[in-house]
Amino acid sequence: MQLFPKTTTFTLFCAFLTLIHAYDVVREYSGVSFFDEWDFFGSWDNLTLGDVYWLDKSDAFSQGLAYVNSVGNAIIKVDNMHSVQSPQKRNSVRITTKDSYAVGSLWIFDLVHIPYGCSVWPAVWSLGGSTWPEGGEIDIMEAINLMPSNQMALHTTSGCFHNYTPPNQLGATLVTDCSTAAGCTVGELQPNSYGSGFAAMGGGVFATQFDVAGIFTWFWSRPNIPSSVTQSNSTSGIDISQWGPPSASYLAAGQCNITEFFTPQQLILDITLCGNWAGLPEVYFPSCGNRGPTGICYNDNVVGDGSNYNDAYFEIPYVRAYTTGGVAPTPTATPFEIVSKVDISTYPGYGSVTIPLSAVTATNTKLQPSQMFFPGNGASQRISWLQIGVGWWMTSIGVIILIELL
Ligand SMILES: *[C@@H]1O[C@H](CO)[C@@H](O)[C@H](O)[C@H]1NC(C)=O
Ligand SMILES: *[C@@H]1O[C@H](CO)[C@@H](O)[C@H](O)[C@H]1NC(C)=O
Ligand SMILES: *[C@@H]1O[C@H](CO)[C@@H](O)[C@H](O)[C@H]1NC(C)=O
Repeated sequence: MQLFPKTTTFTLFCAFLTLIHAYDVVREYSGVSFFDEWDFFGSWDNLTLGDVYWLDKSDAFSQGLAYVNSVGNAIIKVDNMHSVQSPQKRNSVRITTKDSYAVGSLWIFDLVHIPYGCSVWPAVWSLGGSTWPEGGEIDIMEAINLMPSNQMALHTTSGCFHNYTPPNQLGATLVTDCSTAAGCTVGELQPNSYGSGFAAMGGGVFATQFDVAGIFTWFWSRPNIPSSVTQSNSTSGIDISQWGPPSASYLAAGQCNITEFFTPQQLILDITLCGNWAGLPEVYFPSCGNRGPTGICYNDNVVGDGSNYNDAYFEIPYVRAYTTGGVAPTPTATPFEIVSKVDISTYPGYGSVTIPLSAVTATNTKLQPSQMFFPGNGASQRISWLQIGVGWWMTSIGVIILIELL
């Protein structure tokens, strides 16, 4: 017996599909209020031993390393305006959402520009809990130096794997055990996911689905962003059913129990320099060794007037967090062939060791956090009226401190 005509059944089926793929927006970070719901790190990079000092919120704003630009996009950047002398660190920014997002969440990052260049190590990622890697870590966008393409990863305690790569994963699985120092890494093979190529296309969108069925990250260069994303806004829900295959497709079934290895995640954006991935001699030298006289990451990049960091910034139209209370949607899109794949096989760095957080026991005693910011020791040509204003205040404070000392 047929209860409904076939077309009605089909319509109902489609409605059901749409339903289970729908997410509701829970928070948007954008425009003038972008920075309201993030914490700033306020310490040197004691986590990956990079040669930066991640400023607190007021210093990041007053030094012009975090702001909203004239078209309403958030900028976070490495200081490219001031001279750094050995053994100082260079100022940069690391921000973490005040909110944590549980399994069942979806995050979308619209980026116009990602920091790149020799010594530069940006990341868009999430972290659960303070005892690394007990709450799990999801690396959505991470790359170093002149890498041509993004690398994704999960970091967990032992027992979570990416042994089975589903046929619809667009990226290349490089490391399968998520508890290794590198994590279980997947290299992006689609073009323009990082560096000058990403910027030249007007950037793109990264999206991560954090689900009981697995963890899935998509990347679309600007021209390829699906209409469900371009037409969504700060209040509308989103339907991911037409998203196509993910770049990284970490399936839970039989490989990694998501709720066991991942607690609610805070989103993090940061930029460090050198440190224990970008700055490792075996990774840095083959890529950027001809950059300066010493072939050493810190000496040839961080030290100096900073003009080599003009591309070391994020420009962010929005970050959105979504949730679903419904049935877990999973990406089942049919695979497609990438027309021209990025060759990441010979490039130094992919799948290699990074030792974040508590795995680090020694701090770098040679390099101290940046001195207090003083204006006038950088490339003065680029100093804007805003910075002159800031500089005047900082000089005044400096003079007052000097008077106090004398
Ligand atoms: C890094 O510095 C922050 C801020 O001072 C501190 O809270 C944290 O414990 C430090 N982490 C490590 C691994 O030393
Ligand atoms: C967002 O999109 C929804 C659905 O398309 C629409 O009804 C709403 O007016 C839009 N809101 C804004 C702020 O543009
Ligand atoms: C996954 O881990 C959770 C929490 O530890 C547990 O309750 C659940 O039974 C596990 N699921 C499977 C399929 O092993």
